[in-house]
Amino acid sequence: MQTILVASSKGGCGKTTLTTNLAAARAQKGRRVVIIDADRQHSSYRWCARRAEHENLPGVLGMDGPPSQCFDRLPEGTELVIIDTPAGITEYQLSPWLERADVVLVPTLPSQIDFDATAEFLDMLCGNARIRRGKLPTGIVCNRLKPWTYASQEAMENLRELSFPIIGGLRDSQAYVLLTGLGKSIFDYGSELVRRHQDDWRKPLRWIARQS
Ligand SMILES: Nc1ncnc2c1ncn2[C@@H]1O[C@H](COP(=O)(O)OP(=O)(O)OP(=O)(O)O)[C@@H](O)[C@H]1O
Ligand SMILES: [Mg+2]
Repeated sequence: MQTILVASSKGGCGKTTLTTNLAAARAQKGRRVVIIDADRQHSSYRWCARRAEHENLPGVLGMDGPPSQCFDRLPEGTELVIIDTPAGITEYQLSPWLERADVVLVPTLPSQIDFDATAEFLDMLCGNARIRRGKLPTGIVCNRLKPWTYASQEAMENLRELSFPIIGGLRDSQAYVLLTGLGKSIFDYGSELVRRHQDDWRKPLRWIARQS
C-alpha cells in the first residue's frame, strides 16, 4: 500500500483537485483507492460521495477522522491512500499525517505570492527528519498553468530554485472545475478535450509510481 500526502499551507492551490484526480487515475486502473479527507471543508469526502452516484465509474472510498482511527479502519486490500489536507495546516497538525506518508505532493500556483508561500511551507517540511534526510520523497506540482504566458514560464523557472523536484505541471482548465463538482475527473473520459490534460499527468504519475 502506498500513502500519498497532499499538502500546502496555501489555500486554493489545488490540493483537492490533485487528490481527486490522482485517486480517479488509479481507480480507473483498477486500484482500490481511499481518500482520507483531513480538511473540515470535506471537499474530497463529498467528491467521493458524488462519485458513488455514477454507477459506471470506479469508486473511491472517502474517509475522515484523526490519523490513528482512519488507518485502523482502512478496508482490507486498500492499495492506495491519498490524504487531502486543509489550508493553513501547522507543523503540529501535519506531523501525524507525515508519519504515515510514503510520498508528499505540494501543489502550487504560478505566481510570486504562491511561490513565496510554498517556499515557506517547504522550509516547514524540512523540520521533518525523514524529509530532511531525503527518506520521504517530496515533489512539487505547479497547478493552473497557462503554458503560453510569461508568468507561467517564469513560475516554472523560479520553482527550480527550490530544493525539491518539480514533478509536473497541470494546466488551468474549466474541465477540472466542472468534473470535480460532479464527482468525476479528467481520467473518466477519453475525449480529445481531456487528452492533453491526461498528458500533463504522465510525468507526475510516473514519478509517484517510481517512489513505491
Ligand atoms: N488546474 C486547474 N484549472 C482550473 N481550475 C482549477 C485547477 N485546479 C484547481 N482549480 C480550481 O481552483 C479552486 C481551488 O482548487 P482546490 O479546491 O483543488 O484547492 P485546495 O488547495 O484544495 O483549496 P483549499 O485550500 O480551500 O482546500 C477550485 O475552484 C478548483 O476547481
Ligand atoms: Mg481542498
